[in-house]
Amino acid sequence: MKPVRIGLLGIGTVGGGTFEVLKRNREEITRRAGRHIEVAWVAARDLDRARAIVGPDIPVVADAVAAVSDPDVDVIVEVIGGTTVAKDAILRAIAHGKHIVTANKALLAIDGNEILSAANTHGVMIAFEAAVSGCIPIVKALREGLAANRIEWIAGIINGTSNYILSEMRTKKLPFAAALEAAQRLGYAEADPTFDIEGIDAAHKLTLLSAIGFGIPVQFDRAYIEGISKLTDRDITYAEELGYRIKLLGITRRAPTGIELRVHPTLIPAGRIIASVDGAMNAILVKSDAAGVTMYYGAGAGAEPTASAVIADIIEVTRLMQAEPEERVPFLAFQSDALSDVRILPMADVETSYYLRVRVKDVVGVLADIARTLADAGISVASMLQQGAGDADNETDIVILTHRTRERNFDAAIAKLVQMPTVRPEYARIRREDLG
Ligand code: HSE
Repeated sequence: MKPVRIGLLGIGTVGGGTFEVLKRNREEITRRAGRHIEVAWVAARDLDRARAIVGPDIPVVADAVAAVSDPDVDVIVEVIGGTTVAKDAILRAIAHGKHIVTANKALLAIDGNEILSAANTHGVMIAFEAAVSGCIPIVKALREGLAANRIEWIAGIINGTSNYILSEMRTKKLPFAAALEAAQRLGYAEADPTFDIEGIDAAHKLTLLSAIGFGIPVQFDRAYIEGISKLTDRDITYAEELGYRIKLLGITRRAPTGIELRVHPTLIPAGRIIASVDGAMNAILVKSDAAGVTMYYGAGAGAEPTASAVIADIIEVTRLMQAEPEERVPFLAFQSDALSDVRILPMADVETSYYLRVRVKDVVGVLADIARTLADAGISVASMLQQGAGDADNETDIVILTHRTRERNFDAAIAKLVQMPTVRPEYARIRREDLG
């Protein structure tokens, strides 16, 4: 059978890994796909660097957008990232009837509805396993393995850089800045690490998980996003003393009044398996009605782990190329005319429990005053403790774990607490999830 010809957009970390694994495992991949998979050409900005990687036999082109209309290719593999050239190239490729494999979570989270609708119109496939957590086959699991289930929630460590930073802060008692520096030295964090540490990268991935978990359009603009840059090692230590670990979690949940879509630092019980996922690794929990809780773990980034997902998608596209569009698995797991418009809840309407640290004057009655303020707001305290004796200023930290309450309610109570003359205005408030 005629080989499948691919145009590879980008030969950086993921593109280079894809090229290498396609070459190394060529026979094994052909046995699975039923046809040879050939790289027809590579599009790259740095032509010399690209030629040094792919060798003399594969053409290297500079203009990715122009190249995608090549009648000699069946599949465009987009691993350049970003939302400009990548978007133009993908839309043009779709218009020319090419199937798409992409690792581009930002593009799909932001412009996914437009891109998926264009793919539907032109009857081509768009596959994006590599966009969420590198090698972990979570898109496949949600779209196919768990297809019998009503998904209740998905919660995951889906940014390796921030997980590495939090692990370093906890195990080596490092402040945030030092842990970030270590991540940068190891090449985990980008030179501008904002997307990693401010939760944006995790929110891109969570947006896609939410769409395929619940059969809703992608809605990145409705995601609540809070990163780890304001976390202190003090709170990590207190959380540990209380039997918790702090992780940057992406959480999406079907609540009675809408869907939660949120990324933020989260206290989770130290005994949960996901709490011990350290370093740059990713892990995702899915709670569904028939299967119960399932967990997916692996490398969320890196050349070959991400290439593993890219190539799995190329193989799937190869197998299904001759099938009619309605015989293929829908991009968002649900039939495109069956997507639901259930709303994404604003964070103020989300219900969860909390860790609160306030700094107070160590005087008689302060604990009672705090407890009364919370009780007046209908907030039930699960535990409350004073951390350490008062210091030279006669101030001390009070740490409170609450039961579940609505965020709006909790924020209103904090606003009252910090107006008390015995309570300092700075505080730490971290959400807490049981994940049971
Ligand atoms: N920057 C991402 C992370 C890797 O640290 O997990 C690619 O998504």
